[in-house]
Amino acid sequence: MPDHNSPQETPQNVRRRPVVAIDGPAGAGKSTLAAHLARRFGFLNLETGAMYRALALKAIEQDFDFEEEAPLLVIAAETSIVLEPQREGNRVLLDNVDVSRRIRENDVTSAASRISVHPRLRAWMVEQQRALGRDGGVVMEGRDIGTAVFPDAEVKIFLDAAPEVRGNRRYRQTGDVARVTEAAVIEELKERDRRDRTRAESPLKPAEDAVILDSTTMSLEQVLAQAEAIVREHVAELQGS
Ligand code: DC
Repeated sequence: MPDHNSPQETPQNVRRRPVVAIDGPAGAGKSTLAAHLARRFGFLNLETGAMYRALALKAIEQDFDFEEEAPLLVIAAETSIVLEPQREGNRVLLDNVDVSRRIRENDVTSAASRISVHPRLRAWMVEQQRALGRDGGVVMEGRDIGTAVFPDAEVKIFLDAAPEVRGNRRYRQTGDVARVTEAAVIEELKERDRRDRTRAESPLKPAEDAVILDSTTMSLEQVLAQAEAIVREHVAELQGS
C-alpha cells in the first residue's frame, strides 16, 4: 500500500508519471531520443551532460585545474546551473548567462569529460538532478541516471552503438569537416568512452534492469518506436495504479 503519511515526499511508489532514464556513450543518439520521448509524452527533457559542461566552462574561464577536485567543489557551491527544457534540447544558464552554444565547443567537451571523474563533484550533480526529477514526468539523459541518479526509475534505456558509427555521425553533425578528420573524431570519442567507462565513481554501464538498444544495427525510426512502446507501457501502468 502506498504511504500517504508524508505529504512533502513523493516516493517512487506514488509517482503518477515515470522517470525515464536514458544512458549511453557519447554520440549514441541519446539527445534525439530524449527530445522525441519528451515531446511525445509531454515530459520535461533534462540533459545532465549540460550541467557537467556548464561547470567545466566555468572552470575554463577561471583557469582551474581539471584534475583537482577540491577547488572545483568550491566553484560548484557558488554556481547556479539552470536547464530550461525546449523543444529540441535544453537552454543552459550558467550564473544567469545563456551558454547553450558555448558549452558544445571542443574545449568544453574535453574539460567536462575530465571533471566528471571526481566523486564529490558527481555527488553534487546527482543531488541536483534528483531534485529536478523527483516527481516524475521527466526524461533524464546522461551516463549514470539509471545506475546512480534514479536507480528506481520506472523506465531505463541504455542506448549504445559501435564507436565507428557514433564517430561518423558526430563527424557529419559538426559541419567542421575542413578542420577535423573523421578518424580524429572517432579517436576523441574513444578517449571519452574510456574515461566514462573506467572511472571509479559511477562508471558508464547499463543498469541491470535497463533495456539495451543498439543503434549500430537499428535505424533511428526503430529506436524511437521501440523506446516509445516501452514508455507507453509504463505510463499506462502508472495511470492504472
Ligand atoms: O552527454 P554529454 O556529452 O553532454 O556529457 C558531457 C560529459 O559529462 C561527458 O564526458 C560525460 C559527463 N557526464 C557524466 O559523467 N554523467 C552524466 N550523467 C552526464 C554527463
